[in-house]
Amino acid sequence: MRIGVLTGGGDCPGLNAVIRAVVIAGDQLHSDETVGYLDGWLGVMEHRSVPLRPMRVQDLLTRGGTVLGSSRTNPFATDEGPKTAVDTLMADGIDALVAIGGDDTLGVAHRLGPLGVNVVGVPKTIDNDLSGTEMTFGFHTAVETATEAIDRLQTTAESHHRVIVCEVMGRHVGWIAAYSGIAGGADAILVPEVPFDVAEVCERITARHQRGRYSSVVVVSEGALPAPGPDLDSAKAATMSGVVDQFGHAQLGGIGAWLAIEIERRTGYESRHTTLGHIQRGGSPTAYDRVLATRFGVEAVAAVHDGTFGKMVALQAGRVVRVPLEDAVGRPKSLDLELLTNVAAPFVS
Ligand code: F6P
Repeated sequence: MRIGVLTGGGDCPGLNAVIRAVVIAGDQLHSDETVGYLDGWLGVMEHRSVPLRPMRVQDLLTRGGTVLGSSRTNPFATDEGPKTAVDTLMADGIDALVAIGGDDTLGVAHRLGPLGVNVVGVPKTIDNDLSGTEMTFGFHTAVETATEAIDRLQTTAESHHRVIVCEVMGRHVGWIAAYSGIAGGADAILVPEVPFDVAEVCERITARHQRGRYSSVVVVSEGALPAPGPDLDSAKAATMSGVVDQFGHAQLGGIGAWLAIEIERRTGYESRHTTLGHIQRGGSPTAYDRVLATRFGVEAVAAVHDGTFGKMVALQAGRVVRVPLEDAVGRPKSLDLELLTNVAAPFVS
């Protein structure tokens, strides 16, 4: 068979490991040919691809990013876009397309199915916000990176008796904040799912400092915001850049800086902020993500040869399964709030 593969949306560690797995499993088990589309759906729209042979991908397991490149291009942004995409795949003789991406990329894959494209999705995102799978690859690596940063922030915060606010990624969900916050012993964890009260955060910090803990680390997701009121208006003004991508997502960033200023102003404790940003997306995948990415890639090839299209490979109860794409896209997988209410709660008061 002739398999197309692409990587779309924000990159993450493990994308290359999936590409490697698709190419090598396809070649070894079925003598497939694999074609890589460059820069996500943009490469399909512009008819740009490269042949992917085992020799070319065999060393990719440990490399971060994606050798195919990525973009946030949406073929459905224009009326003629979907037909252009279908025409490219037909012209290239693609029997099946493995789309590696998050909600947006897989949403496009889902919509191309009824237009005659045989798609199999592979879930990626550091945010871990894709429904239908317990885990996306890239998340584990991002949490390790964020946790190491928080460990470092803890020691400098202690030395200078400061409050440090660490902003992590997570547009709609707080998985990275919750995991890295718990792992790094954060004193407050603020997530998009639960609007926060700045006064309450300040009270908590003040109480800690009065008990003799003269430093605090607050972990905040980039998408977290205060509850409705004047603080919300002020925070929104500081964090919404006005830049929106082809899927309608606003570019975020700045809540950590805003919050650090508010904490210092209201508590009198010297405060700083650190935004981890794209450091969380770069670099080599952890062993866990290498294995998960490889499992997903091998299963995607199996799904192609079973003719199981319109599905996404997924992790459920430790096993790699196939779920309908429609179950995966359209609604983010919110944080399991028990992580905050039960697990983190004793340590953040
Ligand atoms: O991939 C998801 C994500 O990491 C979000 O958490 C973040 O808001 C976004 O990507 C940033 O994307 P960009 O690379 O376009 O700045």
